[in-house]
Amino acid sequence: MKGILQFIIMIVALSIALSGCTSNQSDDSKIHDLTVSKYDGKIKELMAKMTIEEKIGQLNMLSGDWAITGPFIRADFKQDIKAGKVGSMLNCYTVDYTRELINLSVDSTRLGIPLLLGYDVVHGHRTIFPIPLAEACTWDLNLMEQTARIAAIEASAEGIHWTFAPMVDITRDPRWGRVMEGAGEDPWYGSLVAIAKVKGYQGDDLSKDNTILACVKHVAAYGAAEAGRDYNTVDLSLRSLYETYLPPFHAAVEAGVGSAMTAFNEINGIPCTENQWLWEDLFRKQWGFDGLVVTDYTAINEMIEHGVAANLYQASVLAINAGVDVDMVGQGFLLNLKQAIEKGDVTQEQLDKAVYRILKAKFELGLFDDPYKYCNKEREKADIMIPERTQFCREVATKSMVLLKNSNKLLPLSKEIKTIAVIGPLADNKIDMIGGWSAAGDRNSRPVTLFEGVKNKLSSKTVVLYALGTDFNTSSTEGFDEAIRAAKQADVVLLALGESNDMSAEAKSRSSIDLPGNQNLLADEILKVNKNTVIILMNGRPLTIQHLDDVAPAILETWFAGTEAGNAIADVVFGDYNPAGKLTMTFPRNAGQIPIYYSHKNTGRPFDVNNSWTSHYIDVDNTPLYPFGYGLSYTRFEYSNLTLDKKEMTHPEVVRVSVTVTNSGNYDGEEVVQLYIQDLVGSVTRPIKELKGFEKIFIKQGNSVTVHFTIGQEELSFYREDMSFGSEPGEYRIYVGGSSDTENSVRLTLN
Ligand code: GLC
Repeated sequence: MKGILQFIIMIVALSIALSGCTSNQSDDSKIHDLTVSKYDGKIKELMAKMTIEEKIGQLNMLSGDWAITGPFIRADFKQDIKAGKVGSMLNCYTVDYTRELINLSVDSTRLGIPLLLGYDVVHGHRTIFPIPLAEACTWDLNLMEQTARIAAIEASAEGIHWTFAPMVDITRDPRWGRVMEGAGEDPWYGSLVAIAKVKGYQGDDLSKDNTILACVKHVAAYGAAEAGRDYNTVDLSLRSLYETYLPPFHAAVEAGVGSAMTAFNEINGIPCTENQWLWEDLFRKQWGFDGLVVTDYTAINEMIEHGVAANLYQASVLAINAGVDVDMVGQGFLLNLKQAIEKGDVTQEQLDKAVYRILKAKFELGLFDDPYKYCNKEREKADIMIPERTQFCREVATKSMVLLKNSNKLLPLSKEIKTIAVIGPLADNKIDMIGGWSAAGDRNSRPVTLFEGVKNKLSSKTVVLYALGTDFNTSSTEGFDEAIRAAKQADVVLLALGESNDMSAEAKSRSSIDLPGNQNLLADEILKVNKNTVIILMNGRPLTIQHLDDVAPAILETWFAGTEAGNAIADVVFGDYNPAGKLTMTFPRNAGQIPIYYSHKNTGRPFDVNNSWTSHYIDVDNTPLYPFGYGLSYTRFEYSNLTLDKKEMTHPEVVRVSVTVTNSGNYDGEEVVQLYIQDLVGSVTRPIKELKGFEKIFIKQGNSVTVHFTIGQEELSFYREDMSFGSEPGEYRIYVGGSSDTENSVRLTLN
């Protein structure tokens, strides 16, 4: 009985805690529970003219055939557009093509309501930036806002109004292929990235022709798919949901994101696409979200497979009654809602709320003022892949790279080197450089390969050799001899290993996250003949590269670095940029350690190397290969004088943290100074530490900088036993360092 009572108290308290923002609904709105738009009059005037068929048509989204992002496409969608059966499309772009589609919706339908056009512009549209998991390693929020801004400029120049981004799923299982799309494992950092992305895509005025509607996805906890297997069950506590998976969504809503996408998975046994608590209660009532909700691709239909709907009629009723507005591709709404309203399974008001939100988005984008405002041939020519953007793309890529190992300071290399060999399946490979979810990015000719980047960097005096060595998924060693010959001739080898771009992203989970194929074998053979071998890693997820870490002197994580990959890698390898990237997702030593993340609980028997009766594996070192927040530099940073301006604080006081960082090495460089907080005793178990601050600073060699942080109630607050959000008096430990495994700390008492 106590348990049930506790749960009820928890839910009630949670509702109170999160009901901070209430929707500013108008009392006189005939449609209840709706945030009234500034276009309210125009929307209602248009809705008054619409037939039920025209209203239902607005809820229907079909896929164009310029990209394939799901199980099927309707070929004859143009007929449906002309018949007023389509409110939005995805996977269509270019001015000519979008003009043609919009023209069908404006000129061939009774009311001429323009289509809303969406596309997965996730890390660039034509200029492709590093994958989001790489970009997150820059720890540069302004830069991440800028790349989203550029993506919006390029996408809108090709007729796109709406991007299905940012993907903000927190991920702690690198077997899941979609870790490449997000910002990694930390909710606090992931929330900041979500805000930056929403601001970048939407700008300060959605009605401008170079801003687009953002779509925070996938709501919610898609990254917690069991065993990292895509589309798998998600089963987690309400506490985990609130502490780990919801914060970035809440941050995106607070930042004014204009739409949200349902996740394929269930939460608490209820698929997100029909989870009324998630949408009507949490998002709309508690968080005040007034944007539109779009399902993921055929997610309504998939509720039949989930086993919560006997047929598409039932699935469609569940979805719209849960607060879903747009049906992506599945046509459940189109085929069933009229009957559902006639039968009373769906109210007219529920339908009208969905239509209102879709029309609101179209009004806010300015599509009723000028349906062709994004169909501008001059912008399409002038605003895409312009040279300064390419240079910026290269800069972002250099900043996303993480130096994982550099023993005996093999890097940076001299540009006067006589002979260098660039070897491996990713050495002279264009098609993989821009990674997955790369929108309209050209992957066949435009990307700069590592081999090209090295040649661009060095004078003709340097001999640059190339050998493939091996492929991704082969046991064949037929390419080894040529690679070994090249390695023998070279002063240094750049060995480009990793994954192909289609080994990560959607539906690309891997049960093993080792280097695919026989790449480790190739590395061993190359290292036998040339100790000066640098591993250039290109991948969409953390990989279990313990062997490479054991045998190679230097490892540079470059992820899928985008259109300018090869030039950016050469900038880092030859010292024109001192790497400063820090991991935002833990690298395990083997897949058996997964899930492994820095902000874990202490447990009652925390690992103690001197006590076997503690939480550990007997067959592997019980630390990650590389922890969250880790990344080396060509220089060395030392931390000293970590102090608090007071040892005790009483609400509403704040504490100022100061630390001195010294560049004691031989290169100027940047350091991401990280602040972590540990709540030593709480009303519930607490993580051993949580990131609550960071500052990226540039320090010239030999210089020192003092960095300051402020700690207040917000930094010490969490979901307490009753799930209310706030702080508790007690002892805290404040850590400051260059990685999450720092031990550099001081104590703080909250009275
Ligand atoms: C896919 C993805 C989603 C994407 C959508 C449209 O299935 O899950 O992230 O936005 O379909 O392409």
